[in-house]
Amino acid sequence: MHSFYAIVPAAGSGSRMGGGLPKQYLPLLGRPLLWHCLNTLAGVSRIQRVALVLSPDDAHWRDAAADMAGLRGLQPVFTGGATRADSVKAGLAALRDVANEGDWVLVHDAARACLSVAQVECLIDTLADDPVGGLLAVPVADTLKRADTGSRVVATVPREAMWQAQTPQMFRYGLLCEALERFPAVTDEAGAVEAMGLSPRLVAADATNFKVTYPQDLALAAQILQARRDAAGD
Ligand code: C5P
Repeated sequence: MHSFYAIVPAAGSGSRMGGGLPKQYLPLLGRPLLWHCLNTLAGVSRIQRVALVLSPDDAHWRDAAADMAGLRGLQPVFTGGATRADSVKAGLAALRDVANEGDWVLVHDAARACLSVAQVECLIDTLADDPVGGLLAVPVADTLKRADTGSRVVATVPREAMWQAQTPQMFRYGLLCEALERFPAVTDEAGAVEAMGLSPRLVAADATNFKVTYPQDLALAAQILQARRDAAGD
């Protein structure tokens, strides 16, 4: 039996969001934005520990710490790096004392606040016996355009077989360490695994697991989370 761990890289500045507070700390339904995905991961009983990777210069954790108290298995580490891949590598290092080569690691963006327990359970159940691992993703529904620097269309890109990658991305501890060591210039973990010649599996999710990136995204995230609470009678 292999164990499951999670890494949440949350050391980015969130510059596309504007404003002074890093986006992972923006208020969302009365909690810091990053609390929401941490609460979901804490609710997945198979995940034993969640390494939350923060910037060494993080000036906001202290104010948020009271909100985070009580989240099962949370391990904050202040070793985030200059890139997302550096921060994920710092999370892998933080798990070194417990994780074996064959254990599973789920890497999840702090900014995907609307992740649900059901989505994580589906990912784990689908990939538990997979030789490579994989990620949540959604098939592209819109027509895709390639643009020049002046926002003029230069090509229409066929959308057949195109998927939008989400997180969590789930790979075995040993493979992920090797992939990010050899191929650090990637924007997600699957990219590093692909560079090793492997084919991660795409597990169909839905658009609610979007990444809060622009100011208007916060209101949408609040609506999705509130609708779930209302449906659950909370
Ligand atoms: O910038 P982007 O939205 O792609 O970031 C995805 C995730 O990676 C966010 O949760 C962000 O905080 C994290 N990140 C990080 N360290 C960095 C850059 C991004 O942990 N240096």
